Amino acid sequence: MVNPGLDISLRRESEIPLYRQLIDQIRGLIDGGDLPGGARLPASRKLARQLGVSRISVVNAYSELRAAGYLSAHAGRGTFVARELTAPDAGPARRPVPTASQRASSIREMMRLARRPDVIDFSGGAPPGDFFPLRYLQDAINHVFERDGADALAYEVPAGYPPLRSAVRDYVRAIGINCRIDDVLITGGAQQAIDLVLQSLMRDGETLVTADPTYLGIIDIAEARRVHIHGIPIDEQGIRIDALDNALDDLRPRLIYVMPSYQNPTGHLMPLHRRRQLVQLAAQRRIPILEDEVYREFRYDGDELPPLKALDESGVVIHTNAFTKVLLPGIRIGYLVADGPYSERLARVKQAADISTPGLNQRAIHLLLERGVLAKQLERNRLELRRRRVAALAAAQRFLPAGSHWHAPGGGLFLWVELPQDGPSAAETFIAGIQRDVAFAIGALFYTGAGGSHAMRLNFGIHKPEAIEAGFKRIGAAWDALVAEYGDVERSAVL
Ligand SMILES: Cc1ncc(COP(=O)(O)O)c(C=O)c1O
Repeated sequence: MVNPGLDISLRRESEIPLYRQLIDQIRGLIDGGDLPGGARLPASRKLARQLGVSRISVVNAYSELRAAGYLSAHAGRGTFVARELTAPDAGPARRPVPTASQRASSIREMMRLARRPDVIDFSGGAPPGDFFPLRYLQDAINHVFERDGADALAYEVPAGYPPLRSAVRDYVRAIGINCRIDDVLITGGAQQAIDLVLQSLMRDGETLVTADPTYLGIIDIAEARRVHIHGIPIDEQGIRIDALDNALDDLRPRLIYVMPSYQNPTGHLMPLHRRRQLVQLAAQRRIPILEDEVYREFRYDGDELPPLKALDESGVVIHTNAFTKVLLPGIRIGYLVADGPYSERLARVKQAADISTPGLNQRAIHLLLERGVLAKQLERNRLELRRRRVAALAAAQRFLPAGSHWHAPGGGLFLWVELPQDGPSAAETFIAGIQRDVAFAIGALFYTGAGGSHAMRLNFGIHKPEAIEAGFKRIGAAWDALVAEYGDVERSAVL
């Protein structure tokens, strides 16, 4: 096949997948100077038609080339060859190194291809929609209107609706956090809480450290707030204290961000001794920790552990959680708990950001807490998600490639799987997967640097056991098909 515009010819009989051939050839054209910096590439649909390949292959090739810094995309204008960075006397021309966030947006674009009704989609971070307590919410909103009238829609106090703040204070006291109502700030979900902490504690160009892999949202926020993000290696107990200790010397970060309970994306739970070490280290170095506990209540085994804030005697820990994952994501109610000097700054930044979180939503959530709906919901989440986790582990054992690794998460929504290193990558498996109507989150998305090429995150919480089984089977089949295409990796069934 020859494309007169781009001079590309693909060999269908080759063992090399078509999209990989496409990547190699476009890269060759760029490196050889046939496609200069700034040149516009054909739209993916057009190139796919010209070459007689699926559009997915072209989108995937463009995404990988963008992730490698060869291409850049401009919303609404198209895809272009990136302009070379040539420093005088700096040797050969270099491509700009993509930031974690640019890499993530390339992968995200690829993952958007999976938004089709027939796809069994494990890629999202949402809790199961079939659990939402809709009727209770409707009753609560009606009640709030009858009780409070226009007050429910007036400007709310910036720090939050006082009865909700005091309910949060009681809620966190029950898990060992001793705080005053003034230490509680209501936010637009945990996402806004994280953003407010970065805005109030960090300046342009400063560094924050986090586990690698980490929550994608913090990578995005760090980029938007122009702070550097540095990933620290992890083990099955979470962020490694030795590596963190070294990084504190080298990088002098202004903030440590961690998820002690059922970390996103790995599902790891930080044990008590490591929680203590982490708080002690931060206190010694006087570096604030932001602990994000949005998965804390999704606990299926083991005893409850105290949050870092409950172990904190010097006020270095800022705690965030939300009623989003556990109850209703779209209502956007979260909170921060921070000691005096931090909480005052946070309240000022919050007011500048949006004046206040909507009062109606705060009042409705407050009523749901008062009426015991959260407690019921937590119980329901635990029972049903525990069943889904069992289904996911059984399906992983049965259908995922031999040589894959995962650990059984004691809580949370995610199964983190490492595919065999000598086989197809997670991105390749993803592409083969969506052709079979299944999707997952590609592991590389969650790394602050390189990493995760063979990792995938599967949200088992959003599907019923039958769909989990069907979906994992499709992933196994996708991987098998790639191996058959390559012909270079053996897969034997795991029993
Ligand atoms: C670790 C973590 N923190 C925060 C958020 C954002 O949560 P919220 O909906 O409360 O803003 C998410 C959502 O995926 C998450 O996984």
